[in-house]
Amino acid sequence: MAAKDNRQVVPEHVAIIMDGNGRWATRRGLARLRGHQAGATRVREIVRACPDQGVRYLTLFAFSTENWRRARSEVAGLMALLRRYLKSEAAELITSGVRVRFIGDRRPLNPGLVRLMTDLESRTTQNDRLHLTVALNYGARDEITQAAVALAEAIRRGEIAPDAVTATDLEGFLYTRAIPDPDLVIRTSGEKRVSNFLLWQSAYSEYEFTKVLWPDFSANHFADILLNYGARERRFGAVLP
Ligand code: FPP
Repeated sequence: MAAKDNRQVVPEHVAIIMDGNGRWATRRGLARLRGHQAGATRVREIVRACPDQGVRYLTLFAFSTENWRRARSEVAGLMALLRRYLKSEAAELITSGVRVRFIGDRRPLNPGLVRLMTDLESRTTQNDRLHLTVALNYGARDEITQAAVALAEAIRRGEIAPDAVTATDLEGFLYTRAIPDPDLVIRTSGEKRVSNFLLWQSAYSEYEFTKVLWPDFSANHFADILLNYGARERRFGAVLP
């Protein structure tokens, strides 16, 4: 966390479970995909808000390893939306200093989408104003399992002694090895679940659950939550020696 000014402590890294797109659409008598489209507009708004708020890392849960179980049309629509988003936002992300990373298993993804992802990653490696990580086909248990396998292979190659293994060694094989742990995890839509998101990395994170559905989640809601986080951190600071 960092002090934005004398009054507010700002989380350095905010991770968000963007939930409620489907309900937002259904309540309006619209197709679920319209909710995801409205959600993508909020992604743009929150990404833009982060540097102003002093947030340096933003991680968004866009598609989980469990989301493949949804109707084929919804999955296809979401993937097409992600492709459109990456195409339409690339120029702004590059020029506004956003470093983009993707975490998750890319193997089952459409090769055209993967090309857009790797291209955006490589074109933003020098950026440092905001570090945006998009979790796409991400599942924390899968992540930890593949890290354990990679660690076992390193042990087999004799690079690490089995009796000297530390948590830091395992962390070095997680998708998130280059970014700090989240200080704050937000979930929208009123559900109070973690849903296999950043299980290892959020061991010490604060959680904030809001009833607001993701397509309604504005920069003002975001600012309120950050203010609340700052207040909690200030109290915490006051009781420490
Ligand atoms: C959860 O709502 C949301 C998702 C599974 C998709 C999140 C994707 C976006 C916001 C689209 C754009 C993303 C980026 C990074 C450009 P839900 O469908 O589970 O809602 P429900 O619980 O109300 O059904």
